[in-house]
Amino acid sequence: MSFITVISSKGGSGKSTIVMGLGLWASKLRPNQNVLLIDGDLVVNTIQFKMCRKPKATLADVLRGISPLEDALHQCDLVNPDTGEAIYPNLGILPAAKRRRGQKQRESFLPPMHGGRYASVMQIARQLDDMKDELQKIFSLVFVDTPATRGMEHMFLAGLGDGIIYVIDPTDESIEATLTTASDLERMLGAQTIGVVINRLSSKHKKQEWVKKASEIGPVLGVVPKDDLVDDTFARNIPVVAENENCPASQALKEITLRLLETKIKPSEKIAPRLESIFWGLAESLIKSNKNQEVSERPGFLGRRAKAHRV
Ligand SMILES: Nc1ncnc2c1ncn2[C@@H]1O[C@H](COP(=O)(O)OP(=O)(O)OP(=O)(O)O)[C@@H](O)[C@H]1O
Ligand SMILES: [Mg+2]
Repeated sequence: MSFITVISSKGGSGKSTIVMGLGLWASKLRPNQNVLLIDGDLVVNTIQFKMCRKPKATLADVLRGISPLEDALHQCDLVNPDTGEAIYPNLGILPAAKRRRGQKQRESFLPPMHGGRYASVMQIARQLDDMKDELQKIFSLVFVDTPATRGMEHMFLAGLGDGIIYVIDPTDESIEATLTTASDLERMLGAQTIGVVINRLSSKHKKQEWVKKASEIGPVLGVVPKDDLVDDTFARNIPVVAENENCPASQALKEITLRLLETKIKPSEKIAPRLESIFWGLAESLIKSNKNQEVSERPGFLGRRAKAHRV
């Protein structure tokens, strides 16, 4: 049983395409196991739009205590047009959030922070830990899609994963930014890098060169070529694997899924104790820096010497 969070350091690099492809293949290759996709992106909602069009309840509802978890778990709604039967009956979708009637904006993925920030963050972390315990009883493999934005939700979604797959473009900027993200998440959360997927490799790129560069981040799980069918099906709200399993991108996604199914992923610690230790670490370093300021005098504005304030 593994939770895998898919992250990239920039928007539009193909996270949702990869998550959908891995989820569809995993459910097909393991028909006797349940696979789940968690849509952690409330801004774009790609997975929701393409695989769960009429959600009854969402992750936001569960975290707010409005709906039980089972109401937010949906079967992937891709059906055989001739028979009306589900094509991926063992693939579940947990949508992020929906727009309610009369609301201009989608609800936040995270519930409003009540009381102290620390208490609210810890409460959400504990809720996610409990949710993970429940999901582990039903699903053998869970993929978590993440938004392009960088915020607190990334800490939670990265923490939810036992490990992380990074999706990169074949560019030096993408590799450099991902190296920073991976080292930050490792340092802060102890997040394990499962591997890297290079997406949109075209004939102008030298594959071996980019595989070598990307392996600085972690093991390269595979390379998905630039494939016009991905874009074409995306625009029609159909995941490419569901329309054509044999196109180059779908075949690459199948290989990556097979590799992933053979990979041993160590279960991560719960989110709450990890976030707690980040808070304590921050508090400790604040206290230390205040103490240092107390003993040393710093030059103030215009060359005056000002004593640091006692806090
Ligand atoms: N291998 C590929 N070949 C061609 N087009 C691709 C490929 N991968 C993704 N795309 C296209 O790139 C666009 C962005 O893809 P996708 O939504 O999966 O990225 P994302 O990282 O999830 O974006 P966001 O950051 O907005 O969530 C889509 O139009 C998709 O069809
Ligand atoms: Mg996306």
